[in-house]
Amino acid sequence: MIIAIDGPSASGKGTLAKRLAAHLGFAHLDTGKIYRAVGYQVVRQGGDPEDEATALAVARALDPATLSAPQLSSDEAALAASKVARMNAVRDVLLQFQRDFAESPFGGASGAVLDGRDIGTVVCPEAPVKLYVVASAEVRAERRHKELLERGEASIYARVLQDMKDRDERDTNRSVAPLKPADDAFILDTSGLNADEAFAAALAEVEKADADRLQNKSTAT
Ligand code: DC
Repeated sequence: MIIAIDGPSASGKGTLAKRLAAHLGFAHLDTGKIYRAVGYQVVRQGGDPEDEATALAVARALDPATLSAPQLSSDEAALAASKVARMNAVRDVLLQFQRDFAESPFGGASGAVLDGRDIGTVVCPEAPVKLYVVASAEVRAERRHKELLERGEASIYARVLQDMKDRDERDTNRSVAPLKPADDAFILDTSGLNADEAFAAALAEVEKADADRLQNKSTAT
């Protein structure tokens, strides 16, 4: 069972993915982390994340053990990630990494939850469950602003909102694997939902897909 979750930044897709994976006993891959790991590693070794040959070499040697490094949450890693994520050759290498994970999740789990921008459209178009998590830019900016303040970091709401809009623009309008819902994705708008309500709505979709799968199996036999 593969669950594909996509959506813009701060839509709540990561929290949802983690919670679904824990509930179902599935493995979870935050695919943004792999772009961050590549970008960050390039910068750490003194390279330029805009240089394709360097980014490609790092992507090919990606070590899954580095994906939990706390430095990957930094703005520096996010910026470097957005640069390497624009390169087709890098995406191709990372595509294989993601598909391998979906097929054989770490730890031998019976299913996988992957969250990102192009999971339902490119990485796992055959996934039986595809969720596209959205929320208004204002709601997402408010969540990010609160998160930064809680971490003790300086934050100005108007700036966070502008950054969010700029990032949406870059993610949706880039030529390579732009952010968009798969045709058969369930659109989950979390603007007016708290985390528990969003989780309940997502779980209902998963259960529905599972019931359909069992039904199709029994009619096929
Ligand atoms: O979700 P995030 O902020 O961790 O993503 C980091 C960068 O990687 C961001 O620029 C979008 C990009 N990304 C992508 O292109 N495809 C994915 N499946 C996940 C993230």
